[in-house]
Amino acid sequence: MPKKNKIQKSKKVIVKKISPKKVFIKNQVFKTNNAGASIRQSDKKGKQKEFFKYTLLRGMHDILPREEKYWRPFRDNAVKLADHFLYRQIETPVLEDANLFIRSVGKGTDIVDKEMYIFEDRDGKKVCLRPEMTASVVRAYIMHGLWSLPQPLKLWYWAPMFRHDRPQAGRYRQFTQFGCEVFGSDDPAVDSELILMAYNFFVDLGLPVQIKINSIGATEERNKYISALVEYYRGKRSYLCDDCKKRLNKNPLRLLDCKQEQCKPIKDEAPQILEWLESESKGHFMKVLEYLDELAIPYALDHTLVRGLDYYNRTVFEIYPAVDGEMNTQGALGGGGRYDPLIEQMGGHPSFGSGFSIGVERAAQYLKQACEQQICALPKAECNVYVAQLGDQARRNALKLINNIRNSGLKIDYNLTKNSLKVQLDSANGLKVPYTLILGQKEVIDHTVIIRDMESGVQEIVEQSKIAKIIAHKLEKIDLKKKR
Ligand code: HAM
Repeated sequence: MPKKNKIQKSKKVIVKKISPKKVFIKNQVFKTNNAGASIRQSDKKGKQKEFFKYTLLRGMHDILPREEKYWRPFRDNAVKLADHFLYRQIETPVLEDANLFIRSVGKGTDIVDKEMYIFEDRDGKKVCLRPEMTASVVRAYIMHGLWSLPQPLKLWYWAPMFRHDRPQAGRYRQFTQFGCEVFGSDDPAVDSELILMAYNFFVDLGLPVQIKINSIGATEERNKYISALVEYYRGKRSYLCDDCKKRLNKNPLRLLDCKQEQCKPIKDEAPQILEWLESESKGHFMKVLEYLDELAIPYALDHTLVRGLDYYNRTVFEIYPAVDGEMNTQGALGGGGRYDPLIEQMGGHPSFGSGFSIGVERAAQYLKQACEQQICALPKAECNVYVAQLGDQARRNALKLINNIRNSGLKIDYNLTKNSLKVQLDSANGLKVPYTLILGQKEVIDHTVIIRDMESGVQEIVEQSKIAKIIAHKLEKIDLKKKR
């Protein structure tokens, strides 16, 4: 049994806004810790009553219907994109061997050093909640012999990840990623197609985004570059922030990620990785950019973009909101790149891999803000028809009728708990449906239903068996009128 959390009772009285840390009960404020608390208070008769049990863990969040409406368009678009580009879905366990990420994402990265949810299970095995999915997908690719399928193999996922990060706007400890991974081809067109998908994920919903892109070359090229970078930074060590002093020893590439003002002039003058690339890597990168030009995808070259995970080689990219063509670099919406050596490094036959992931919380937040600023609008979840029923017999018949209409592909709404026709017609008006079907006792006996045109109020009686076809026909007519 988990221990109950301590509750302090404060003497202050009214708190109007209830934050997750404060619970407002009967004019008294109880402070709870983040893990939540069970609160007991005496009622008038002195009987102990339990009012409230748990709050959320820090950094966790519920997705309520008011937020879900900003998620749904992305989920629909992810499925649509995956279908169009012929990607197959993959799911892997949330719990994995911790070494999978320690070895692939790499020691010295923030994810491994500071953010992994890592613990021993009951068998004493070091396990973790996956902080990202690429390593898991590579594990599955090797383990299940997916390399023996026709290549390139294109996979996608929509799954929760866990990072024990410091919670702040757009940064959670559990978050969802939509991602795509392609195996078995080092063609630059693969990288460009992935960027196109990530770009379309937003642009299809009317959200402007911009791509930051770089190439970090092959391992040998990068190693030579890192030596030059260390040499350059070593002479300036005393001017660096504390984090950069550590990075210089532990993970020098991350020096280019520093956002501190004091390090900026040093970073600006640092050697650029593109100068260390040999002709093959340079040629690969140029082709990726040519494809992007051809696709008219806006991108910005950024020689400081190195990504925070160790497994990348060659192309790396990130996606940012772009409002009025200006880049808003508050937080990346997504990122990815090529990781060819990882497959062999993890015990597979040498192959190629490239992919990206998008943070759905950040995407949903961007969509919400863009809707508020009228940059775009949520796609309408149109309802085609409402069914209103009167009386027990009609209610029983209504469910069957609704099922038949729904099977014909129409979107239908109803409320079987309501009896009043007026209330049901009000609901139909609220949904702005063009037609309501009314089913009373007489219609049940006659196997008919009344169609009410919600605009004119004109009603007609038709046979139940023909209703789906008749409604579909009427809706087509409305569509045609709109188009004219
Ligand atoms: P990543 O850059 O670590 O890459 O994460 C991708 C995206 O996940 C970020 O751009 C961000 O939108 C979102 N994200 C990351 N951390 C958080 C957080 N704490 N809260 C909310 N959202 C977050 C990867 O994970 C790589 N596996 C991407 C990849 C796929 N590379 C190749 N294939």
